[in-house]
Amino acid sequence: ANLGTGQARLGFTAIPPGQTDALVVPPGYVAQVIARWGEPVGIAGNMPAFRTDGSNSAADQAVQLGMHHDGLAFFPLNGSSTHGLIALNHEYTDDGLLHPDGFVPMNAAKVKKSQNAHGLSVYEVKFNGQAWEMVRPSAYARRFTMDTPFDMSGPAAGHPLLRTAADPQGRTTLGTLNNCASSATPWGTYLSGEENWMFYFGGGTDISAHHKRWGLREKGLYDWERFDTRFDAAQNPNEPNRFGWVVEVDPMDPTSTPVKRTALGRAAHEGAWVAMTQDQRAVVYSGEDARFEYIYKFLSSGRMQPGGAKANRHLLDEGTLYVARFDANGQGQWLPLVHGQGPLTAANGFADQGEVLIKARQASDLLGATKMDRPEWLAIDKASRWVYCTLTNNSQRGAEGKPGVDAANPRANNSMGQIIRWREARDFDGMTFEWNLLVLAGDPANERAEAKGNVKGDIFGCPDGLGFSPNGLLWIQTDAHATQMYKGEFARIGNNQMLACDTATGEIRRFLTGPTNCEITGLTFTPDGRNLFISVQHPGETPTDRSDPKQPQKYSSWPDHQPDGRPRSANVVIRKIDGGVIGT
Ligand code: FEO
Ligand code: CA
Ligand code: CA
Ligand code: CA
Repeated sequence: ANLGTGQARLGFTAIPPGQTDALVVPPGYVAQVIARWGEPVGIAGNMPAFRTDGSNSAADQAVQLGMHHDGLAFFPLNGSSTHGLIALNHEYTDDGLLHPDGFVPMNAAKVKKSQNAHGLSVYEVKFNGQAWEMVRPSAYARRFTMDTPFDMSGPAAGHPLLRTAADPQGRTTLGTLNNCASSATPWGTYLSGEENWMFYFGGGTDISAHHKRWGLREKGLYDWERFDTRFDAAQNPNEPNRFGWVVEVDPMDPTSTPVKRTALGRAAHEGAWVAMTQDQRAVVYSGEDARFEYIYKFLSSGRMQPGGAKANRHLLDEGTLYVARFDANGQGQWLPLVHGQGPLTAANGFADQGEVLIKARQASDLLGATKMDRPEWLAIDKASRWVYCTLTNNSQRGAEGKPGVDAANPRANNSMGQIIRWREARDFDGMTFEWNLLVLAGDPANERAEAKGNVKGDIFGCPDGLGFSPNGLLWIQTDAHATQMYKGEFARIGNNQMLACDTATGEIRRFLTGPTNCEITGLTFTPDGRNLFISVQHPGETPTDRSDPKQPQKYSSWPDHQPDGRPRSANVVIRKIDGGVIGT
């Protein structure tokens, strides 16, 4: 069966696995670096230059591009494919690189700079006939940091579990954390997922069962709680409940207040992706990137209205959230997370719908949803209605005391990951679906059966970023960790990479390889399919030794390649030299 759109075939020359500190694209293509960490985002009158020694202040960083670029989306201005806005996530920081003397010792000024290097950026870009450039200053340029107010909306807004001393109404939270994947909605907004927010909180020695289920630990990974009591969950037990949401931003209105959409459920959200039913209801698919967690779908009650972001500002506030169960017979079911239905009752610890959404994991546990191998990005083939999801890896699958293999997650000690896909019967609002596995990632030369995979084409491991281009090719990006690369089961796979898949044939072909120890993530095309923007995250990332703050510089100097410089996350825009459509 032709499972893809079938519009386009792979038409580029595959490149070999990457082994060097360089970004490589196929013959006939050109890659250009833009929007490096620390460049001014373009706010008029406030454009401090990047200092290569890391000595920019926290205030400088609040108006410069953040660190660790991840998901991004291109928003055309007046429908243009040569002029638009990029909205971009900054997932986390490497505090060894962020400060002149690294992260030891941490102090309040360093925490503030780290907070200002998190969040989101909106910047303006234009193609000048030769190359893309940032437009600076730009009326659209914006940074969202840990000080930016976000409205809480939907059924959990104002819930007692969201109220804090600083926000007794529980309706306005400051900042967004660990934003990973992203997408653009059909009504012109940007959706961004708050992923590993739990690691920013110190839970103290007496962590509640609720916070434990979400992975809070005694101490945060970043030392924030020592200098900013908001992140001390022992003192502020409801502050963690204000993270883990899907964030919606209107990039076209620089005065707009971003919103956390509680109707979509709380999770370690990788991101969120929208399909429209034939009668214009919004269906939002999302997953949470954590071992043995879940895949979700939200179906709006209302219909999309003409008039863009303003006309649809409550579309994602009312509807029903479901969690996926993948059955062994190739069928599956969406299980509703509705208060009062089934086990989701006060007797089981859910006072109301708000609590069901805040404790979506606990609710999904009770519903018997399928525990997945770390769901990352999703991609929706609007023509065929197949929805694809990367399951990046799960080293604990089948381990003692952990869930064993199942049909959807079929490999024990799953080092390589897989891509699953499903399709509902008539429209995106189905309650049941058929599903199968597009590909098991791996290398057939590996000894262990579970690491061989069944890739038809170029080998890869740990699929993460995923998306369709306008011509219907499926693009896959990888995130193998620096501790794995170049050895063992990853010896032949090389640097993290980007591949294209023809879903009609299953063929997968390597398109791009990144610099040393980076992750390749985030993908967005201009409407004409002739420009591809991606993120190169954490080139040179420290494989092991957190005590040496300068360690990334031993591995990478990308993209500046200055002897005294620092590796920097950046966006890269890729074009065909002849101006043609990417991938064909
Ligand atoms: Fe931030 Fe799941 O990758
Ligand atoms: Ca990711
Ligand atoms: Ca990942
Ligand atoms: Ca990452």
